[in-house]
Amino acid sequence: LESMKILPSGAGCIPHLNAVILGESLATEENDYVLPSEQFASQANVQSPEQYLKMYKRSIEDPAGFWSEIASEFYWKQKWGDQVCKENFDVRKGNINIEWFKGGITNICYNCLDRNVEAGLGDKVAFYWEGNELGVDATLTYTQLLHQVCQVANYLKDIGVKKGDAVIIYLPMLMELPITMLACARIGAVHSVVFAGFSSESLSQRIIDCKPKVVITCNAVKRGSKVIYLKDIVDTAIKDSTQNGVSIDVCLAYDNASALKREDTKWTEGRDIWWQDVVPRYPTTCPVEWLDAEDPLFLLYTSGSTGKPKGVVHTTGGYMVYTATTFKYAFDYKPSDIYWCTADCGWITGHSYVTYGPILNGATVVLYEGAPNYPDAGRSWNIVDKYKVSIFYTAPTLVRSLMRDGDEHVTRYSRKSLRVLGSVGEPINPSAWRWFYNVIGDSRCPISDTWWQTETGGFMITPLPGAWPQKPGSATCPFFGVQPVIVDENGVEIEGECSGYLCVKSSWPGAFRTLYGDHERYETTYFKPFAGYYFSGDGCSRDKDGYYWLTGRVDDVINVSGHRIGTAEVESALVSHPKCAEAAVVGVEHEVKGQSIYAFVTLVDGVPYSEELRKDLVLTVRKQIGAFAAPDKIHWAPGLPKTRSGKIMRRILRKIASRQLDELGDTSTLAEPNVVNQLIELADS
Ligand code: WTA
Repeated sequence: LESMKILPSGAGCIPHLNAVILGESLATEENDYVLPSEQFASQANVQSPEQYLKMYKRSIEDPAGFWSEIASEFYWKQKWGDQVCKENFDVRKGNINIEWFKGGITNICYNCLDRNVEAGLGDKVAFYWEGNELGVDATLTYTQLLHQVCQVANYLKDIGVKKGDAVIIYLPMLMELPITMLACARIGAVHSVVFAGFSSESLSQRIIDCKPKVVITCNAVKRGSKVIYLKDIVDTAIKDSTQNGVSIDVCLAYDNASALKREDTKWTEGRDIWWQDVVPRYPTTCPVEWLDAEDPLFLLYTSGSTGKPKGVVHTTGGYMVYTATTFKYAFDYKPSDIYWCTADCGWITGHSYVTYGPILNGATVVLYEGAPNYPDAGRSWNIVDKYKVSIFYTAPTLVRSLMRDGDEHVTRYSRKSLRVLGSVGEPINPSAWRWFYNVIGDSRCPISDTWWQTETGGFMITPLPGAWPQKPGSATCPFFGVQPVIVDENGVEIEGECSGYLCVKSSWPGAFRTLYGDHERYETTYFKPFAGYYFSGDGCSRDKDGYYWLTGRVDDVINVSGHRIGTAEVESALVSHPKCAEAAVVGVEHEVKGQSIYAFVTLVDGVPYSEELRKDLVLTVRKQIGAFAAPDKIHWAPGLPKTRSGKIMRRILRKIASRQLDELGDTSTLAEPNVVNQLIELADS
């Protein structure tokens, strides 16, 4: 056992796991451990702490050997060069550079589809699609999926989309969304999916940044009882981007007749094309474009501390190997599983764990178009029973809202098929964890609380169900090849039980390689704060057993219902309103959403506060970013607390927003200490 303690940093988890190996009983109330059942553990892909430790140790000591063995299970037209991984992770030694499997020639779409069809999975269901309305559904087998992907790929090639070209996808959860992603991957085009809840202004900002050859959308979609007119949003975005010098020649629109009639859809002749009029005419086979492992696969915009969204770039080979492997182990995937992830493909979770990870494994995936509580709060379990879902992966915000709706919506469904549960996007509070475990999973299904980020491509800290005990609210231990470290404010690594900033030492295959068009910002944001490490932006503590507990963002990013929103983005939307002079946005704790957006707003001199203006400000944010970023509270602020050098003191604003008025701390360094009292007086007006 001593020999197992030699791991470098992720080794925080070792002492506890050693205790398990020694057979200590840990399932005490006091420790709040939840042990996997023997029955589960005995069938799991990783069955014990020893097995994990052996694999983890190898992944750290010999990453090249560990990952190349796994990579060999995929199809490579040509094997990678001698060096499996080449990296510079330290800004002091030059530019940050990460390469995995460089020189290896492959294609992720080929590995998702052709390889699985050749292996005999052609008739296996790839996607069960469940529509918004009860009783509306569809199915695609692996062979059918391959055919449809090839048709779209051929169409894209025909309109001149080539390797390296960007394609913007603005679609809801129709099967056409993953189909289009895979079609881009097949021909080496770089997809950029924009979540279909983003406003036209956000969409045009992304169009201007990546200059796509084509924008792919649909006329409209029904979500719950609401119709959303996506094509209108795209029209406005294209108009905006054209005015800014980026014109779009082709807009391919899927005719989603259930939401809007074709003849009622606004149309620009010469630019707009109906998907159904062209795509089905193309051949169902299409040669793949063979790519270097380091050729880009996609870019996905995400929010950061400053106003402009960042285009996170993922490449082909490492991402493929990493998403497939994390999916297999963190969900204890077996070929007989039916897997449902409630995330939208517009976010990273939908890239790595709706599309690529599961499909690479030949899994059967459920896609759901609608809202989780439509027509009632039991819909999710209706879907679970209908498709016999065995792995269910969702966000804490949904768990908390279903919990509030009451157990009866859950218990009237069987849910017997469930085997593994998963959580992502924000910390899951222990009471929601227990409800998820006890009520949804009937105290039978382990929960994989997966910590990761758009930037990391795949899971970083996650339970391997069956391998070790869980603790409600902890993401537990690092995945293979991941070396998490906790550093203090000086960037010094802290050992053992501690809290601080969560960083990662050295690269893993799924890591992002750059920010689109801005490698300098990549280095400044992620590698300069703590030289020698990747900085996650999250706070974290490690307990006596080496388990990791994520505590939320430490930068100016808010996490609302698992959606990442930069405070600067919301502020810049607010100040674009002619009556708003200044704005400061903070996150406050919210029972269901995790955090909600709280905005302090200073108006232009002489403008009076009014309910109408409040609504107008909220509308401005909805229009510029999207409904999901709308502030819950506008707090009128005659002035904002600033230091003498003019820096807004957010620490104080956060305390005022959460009404922790006795914890305001030292306000003597403020330029005008009196503004704090003014703000408190106006708090509930
Ligand atoms: C948060 C989503 C606690 C975290 C995959 C991170 C989590 C941000 C967890 C990334 C988790 C994600 N426990 N916090 N299991 N998973 N987060 O890029 O703050 O949309 O930095 O990726 O979500 O959000 P993103």
